[in-house]
Amino acid sequence: MNSVLRNMKPYPMDELVKAKELLKKDGKKIYDFGTGDPKEPTAPFIREAVKTAIPEVSQYPTVKGRKDLREAISSWFKRRFDVELDSEKEIIPSAGSKEAIFHFPLVFIDADSDKKRVIFGTPAYPVYERGTLFAQGIPTSYTLKYEEGFLLRLDKMPEEILKETKIVWLNYPHNPTGATAPLSYFEDMYQICREYDIIMCSDECYTEIYFEEKPPSALQVGKENVVVFHSLSKRSGMTGYRSGFVAGDSRIIQEYLRFRSSFGVGSPDFIQVGAREAWKDESHVEERRLIFRKKKEIFEKFFKEEGFEFLDVKASFYFWVKVPFGLTSKDYAFHLLKYGIVVSPGEFFGSGGEGFFRIALVPSVDECEEAVSVWREANREIARRRS
Ligand SMILES: Cc1ncc(COP(=O)(O)O)c(C=O)c1O
Repeated sequence: MNSVLRNMKPYPMDELVKAKELLKKDGKKIYDFGTGDPKEPTAPFIREAVKTAIPEVSQYPTVKGRKDLREAISSWFKRRFDVELDSEKEIIPSAGSKEAIFHFPLVFIDADSDKKRVIFGTPAYPVYERGTLFAQGIPTSYTLKYEEGFLLRLDKMPEEILKETKIVWLNYPHNPTGATAPLSYFEDMYQICREYDIIMCSDECYTEIYFEEKPPSALQVGKENVVVFHSLSKRSGMTGYRSGFVAGDSRIIQEYLRFRSSFGVGSPDFIQVGAREAWKDESHVEERRLIFRKKKEIFEKFFKEEGFEFLDVKASFYFWVKVPFGLTSKDYAFHLLKYGIVVSPGEFFGSGGEGFFRIALVPSVDECEEAVSVWREANREIARRRS
């Protein structure tokens, strides 16, 4: 067996899934704020487009993807970020962004080189580290701090480390904290990446779930050595379709394309047709934002009433909350679990996550209202035990 796999801890969410299954067996009502997989239905016009595109004979899709999908992505990117992307050379459709993120270092890390560090923040989406390990790169984490707005500050990293770095992963709006970054932040990081010849990878799968200003894209600051990862999962409620794209510096995109033919990750043709329709439309995304806004308001009010400390959420569907009652994040999560409330302990997202828990606004608006009163009771029990 691959030694990286042998030494790997189970995927953090697996632990939650097991605990949840046990609760379900006991017939407990579950309010699942654990996994970031919302349940709002996919817009009917997208489902119809996919259905009608399923052919009698389905053949291998190309890794380069459908031209009409790449063109729809390019038009969306221009409308949304005012950046021109060449649909022939600067865009690759992907089977969701997770696989694209995981595979990326396999192509750009040379295990025999001195420049094989991959920098990412902690807490973080765990795939940056996993992809690095399988590619034999050196995972290098930066602890994201509440006081710094959870921004990954390359300017605070030692020069020797930056010299040895090949890739940096930025992710704003951020999972798990919901932190956002202004364009000036990307400009600053871009200068450092250019100075040290680092590929700036920006995971932008949450840019479309916003409540205030529209979050920027890293490609607004330049294309050289910049690659962005987008997805329909969160934007259009299409997690099960596995559809996203990678875009940016044409030299990198072309190299990536060349290698991707070995992976067999071309998105099925009929999914690409649904994706094309999704990128063309904004109204269904607007509706989704309204739903998430309602859920966000319920929890903002609740957390404030409970005296919890949390980061103001301007985008994404996560709340990152300081663990109350002096408990560890895991102990608090397991206490809530007794009441059927599933949250993710901060430690699941790496060493920088301890002391916090994350909720993903997944249950419906009505369920969120219900969960809040159950949660209040769970907090009261701790308070009672302590008095
Ligand atoms: C930060 C981040 N990046 C990437 C992904 C992967 O999304 P998908 O593969 O569905 O596009 C997720 C999923 O939760 C995520 O939170």
